[in-house]
Amino acid sequence: MNIKELIKGMTVEEKIGQLNQVAYIPATIDGIEDRIREGKVGSIILAQTAFAGNDSPCSVDYEKVNRLQRIAVEETRSHIPILFGRDVIHGHKTVFPIPLAMAASFDTELIKKSYECIAKEAYNDGIKWTFAPMLDMSRDPRWGRIIESAGEDPYLAQNVARAVISGFQGDDYSKRGRLCACAKHYVGYGASEGGRDYNRTEISEYTLRNFYLRAFKSAVEADVGTVMSAFNEISGQPVTSSRYLLTDVLKEEFGFKGFVVSDWAAVKQLIDQGVAENEKECAQMSLKAGVDMDMVDDIYNKYLLKLLSEGKITEEIIDEALYRVLYIKEKAGLFDDPYTAPVNVDRAFNAKTAKEMAEESMVLLKNENNILPLSVSDKIYIDGEMKDDTRSILGSWTLDGIAEETVTVFEGINKYITPVLNEKDADIIILAIGESHTVTGEAHSLADIDMKREHISLAKKYKAEGKKVVGVLNFGRPVAMEDGEKYFDAIIYAWHSGTQTGNAVADILFGKVNPCGHLPVTLPRKTGQIPLYYNFTKGSRTVNEYYDHADNRFINNYDDCKGSPLYPFGYGLSYTEFEYSNPRILSEKNGEYVVGITVKNTGKFDGKALVQCYICDEVASSMRPIRELKSFEKIFLKKGEEKEVLFKLGEKELGFYNMDNEFVVEEGLFTVYMGGDAYCENKVSVRYIKN
Ligand code: BGC
Repeated sequence: MNIKELIKGMTVEEKIGQLNQVAYIPATIDGIEDRIREGKVGSIILAQTAFAGNDSPCSVDYEKVNRLQRIAVEETRSHIPILFGRDVIHGHKTVFPIPLAMAASFDTELIKKSYECIAKEAYNDGIKWTFAPMLDMSRDPRWGRIIESAGEDPYLAQNVARAVISGFQGDDYSKRGRLCACAKHYVGYGASEGGRDYNRTEISEYTLRNFYLRAFKSAVEADVGTVMSAFNEISGQPVTSSRYLLTDVLKEEFGFKGFVVSDWAAVKQLIDQGVAENEKECAQMSLKAGVDMDMVDDIYNKYLLKLLSEGKITEEIIDEALYRVLYIKEKAGLFDDPYTAPVNVDRAFNAKTAKEMAEESMVLLKNENNILPLSVSDKIYIDGEMKDDTRSILGSWTLDGIAEETVTVFEGINKYITPVLNEKDADIIILAIGESHTVTGEAHSLADIDMKREHISLAKKYKAEGKKVVGVLNFGRPVAMEDGEKYFDAIIYAWHSGTQTGNAVADILFGKVNPCGHLPVTLPRKTGQIPLYYNFTKGSRTVNEYYDHADNRFINNYDDCKGSPLYPFGYGLSYTEFEYSNPRILSEKNGEYVVGITVKNTGKFDGKALVQCYICDEVASSMRPIRELKSFEKIFLKKGEEKEVLFKLGEKELGFYNMDNEFVVEEGLFTVYMGGDAYCENKVSVRYIKN
């Protein structure tokens, strides 16, 4: 397809129509057919509301989608097919763990495999474009949308971004069963002040480049088809109208070739944000900034022609946006293969993969006296409001998930044992507690993420009766449980883990699966510690108590709470034990270092260790984080087995964006830490010298 030639033959009205996305669910809204015939529909978002994340399910159907596509292809003058999109975030019919949980697996191969399954299921319902991955690094677990993210670390988010994009798109997303991905929300949305959704953000250029932009840059490098601009402003500038962010940085500096779609009704929102007086101005500002497609506002449709006739925009700028849209339609194969032709989907395989993903994601936080794994001869009573839950456990943003397919925590455990009917007869209480999906996701933030009093009382009551209490915590976000944690003998952080939650929980509880998930976010002691994250810049007086456990009143601390988290980033136990020793430098060549550490399984089970490598740039031209994750590897070790894990550190890992926005690697001392979480103490020093 010669896109330039195609553009030459189009009228301005047809061009503008391609930049317009409308919301539509076949069979619920009438009148779309005529709009398609008129050439006013470039894309359809298969959604009925702006809050699809927690909305009641409303299924889509490929035959109805094909019917609409036929109108576009056969009955319009330009014959350009429609790109059909939907929020396919962490599953379609088979629901996988929420993205935050998937990040806890630190298993990018499995994440990729999961998204391959998800893509096929979604494709078969007529979807060719998904609004994922969400790459908003977040340091605030009050923010409901943290569930959609990879957590607080940019390096982890970069790796997750590549895995999700490659799972959705493969090498060639024109193929059937593949989806075009969308990196969202570009950029900074995760910094919403106070964790209040849609709130303002205050991000310096230094922090933007070193933290928030990094996953987006990786997404562009991974050839993501589209990018969604974010609702938020950054330090007074709405992203939707920021030419600097959308054009200068994303398109020019990063080299993004696809198109930018606005977030839902975000073009018009420029009026609410107080930078535009009317809809016409909104259209002008967004298009000029680099928003190529207007999601559901119909503002481009209404005003671009007028703006053109008034000389406020040029036809070139319309053509540039159009070129991007058509380029992606071409890459998505729509010109050659516009209709969905269902591929073979093996639902049993998808369920198996979803279970594997759930197992790899769950984090064992506590296991006093090795109470876990349980034995089938234990007398067990199951309590807690999540034990029979089928919907919340799927998480937010599961538009097509089938709650009837959920394996509940109770059902999973019941496959191993028949729980006792009366708590009095039990030695062990499994408490399946958590939060509803309706307090997570979009427009659902919490002011207080401390563990609820009723959960603490329940655990305390059983503890006082002399029972062993095992917590299965089904939350979408970190819960601050300093006051409750002591009443649990063991804690499995099981997240909202999707369709297979119950099977994964049971296999972990009874030791068929050895837990190996690690926290992608810090778990604070109390809500009041937020923001609390592991990769903060060095403190002005002495290190923050996050790392310094000494009693030092000059540390960045509270009088009523320690400064350290309850569980740090990267933390996660196993039923076995891993010993880390002999950190060493293996080679130093041309500014490239190979460092290594020996990991030994010294416990009684085979298991997986997540070996993490952090650096600290000890002296730099600007303040650098006290630790930054630079590499990780999940390895399997049989009991008694020992392996050497090597990490390569070069300019990419040692460099950073300086105060002049340049990526630099500065000479000097770096400390490299290696081990099982952000607190790890095995270290070596390297001195970087330029060649
Ligand atoms: C959300 C996006 C989502 C879009 C379409 C917006 O409200 O912020 O993440 O993709 O709606 O449903």
